[in-house]
Amino acid sequence: MLETELIKKYDVPGPRYTSYPTVPYWKNDGFSVDKWKENLLTTFAATNQSDGISIYIHLPYCESLCTFCACHKRITKSHGVELPYIEAVLKEWHLYVSLFTEKPNIVEIHLGGGTPSFFAPEMLKLLIEGILDDAYVRPEHEFSFEGHPNNTSFEHLETLYNLGFRRVSFGVQDYDPIVQKAIHRIQPFENVQKVTEFARKIGYTSISHDLVFGLPFQQLSSIEDTVRKTLLLRPDRIAFYSYAHVPWIKGNGQRGFDENNLPNGEQKRALYEKGRELLEQNSYHEIGMDHFALAHDSMFIAQKKGTLHRNFMGYTTTQSKVLLGLGASSISDSWTAFGQNIKEVETYIESLTQGELPIVKGHLLSDEDLFIRKQILNIICQLETSWRPEDWTEEEKEFIFDKLSNLESDGLICLENTGLKVSPKGKTFVRNICMVFDKYLKSYNTQEKLFSRTI
Ligand SMILES: C[S@@+](CC[C@H](N)C(=O)[O-])C[C@H]1O[C@@H](n2cnc3c(N)ncnc32)[C@H](O)[C@@H]1O
Ligand code: SF4
Repeated sequence: MLETELIKKYDVPGPRYTSYPTVPYWKNDGFSVDKWKENLLTTFAATNQSDGISIYIHLPYCESLCTFCACHKRITKSHGVELPYIEAVLKEWHLYVSLFTEKPNIVEIHLGGGTPSFFAPEMLKLLIEGILDDAYVRPEHEFSFEGHPNNTSFEHLETLYNLGFRRVSFGVQDYDPIVQKAIHRIQPFENVQKVTEFARKIGYTSISHDLVFGLPFQQLSSIEDTVRKTLLLRPDRIAFYSYAHVPWIKGNGQRGFDENNLPNGEQKRALYEKGRELLEQNSYHEIGMDHFALAHDSMFIAQKKGTLHRNFMGYTTTQSKVLLGLGASSISDSWTAFGQNIKEVETYIESLTQGELPIVKGHLLSDEDLFIRKQILNIICQLETSWRPEDWTEEEKEFIFDKLSNLESDGLICLENTGLKVSPKGKTFVRNICMVFDKYLKSYNTQEKLFSRTI
């Protein structure tokens, strides 16, 4: 089948698999905050000494709304919100610390958003020192943050560096002024250049730029120009995200441009291919489904060693089984259970003022969920997976193997008795390959607005 036909066939709504089961299919009925704590404590006790824990902190504020953005954020110019929010996050952390039977070993901290650099450097210092006061830090730790090039200062970078941060990712998206105007994000190259040079001077060892393909008015020429400008700054890593068009998510502002201004599936794929070609010609290696890295970067090394992992933060190089998500809307993962925090900032803060964990929903993973989760993780991180014939019931075989044969005839996978390998052609369709194993999608009604399109 020709690439264009494959794109038509496989460009359907589908999950990005930062978790399995995916959030819309969580079964909340068996779930409670007590069950969440029980699962968390069991995994913590088993892995705190060996793997350590990861912490994601959601910092939801931005000064200005980018109309393409699918993140959970709150737009305000008032910086009076910073301290009450940081205090609430620290309360949440202390609730967890008081549950743990021993001091946590932190292996990873990621500050995401919203815009972490919306917060003043001294606020971020207060936050990180408050976390570290109650924990050990593993020597091989990876601390990272997301910075907006328009408001990340030398002081932000220096303050976080002094607290152990060595990774930073800057949101770039696209340098074309027409695209920037459409997404309401005016950001000249000089701003990105300045913060990248600051970070390098201070000593950050992994600088990443986020680019997005499939944005309104994007053309092959604008992608080429954006990638060429990015190459001038030579970030260690590049996230090259597929634009997720999810205008039904309340308050995300994706109605700021017309859908006719968006490239279609085939054009979108061409934008990706153009970017990939240029990046690969310049020594970047494609990692997983939306990242590129230079050979010295830990993400490339993790992929080579087969230790790349994926969770709610996206691809990561640490393998911890406990991910604590702190802050409004954050999701925590104890490997056997997921729990999500209240999304609305005021209610989140209120819950902590009452001394209660702000978890509102979650899912307890069954043995079957855990097995399928592992298969999906193997495919999305390692591009291959394996099983034993006795791992599947007759019903599962019927459900899965027909679809796998179909993928094989389309040349997307190489199917063996006890596993599969994604072919070079299949890389583009890795989300579709994972979807074959997703039992919950059986009940998926494509009219329902749950997921962005896979291409
Ligand atoms: C939280 S933002 C990064 C930090 C900061 N707020 C900024 O914009 O520079 C995270 C990244 O998610 C990506 N992103 C946001 N909305 C997206 C969408 N609808 N589709 C694909 N990627 C998206 C962008 O590349 C963005 O830089
Ligand atoms: S892209 Fe970043 S700055 Fe823009 S609205 Fe989203 S989180 Fe805020």
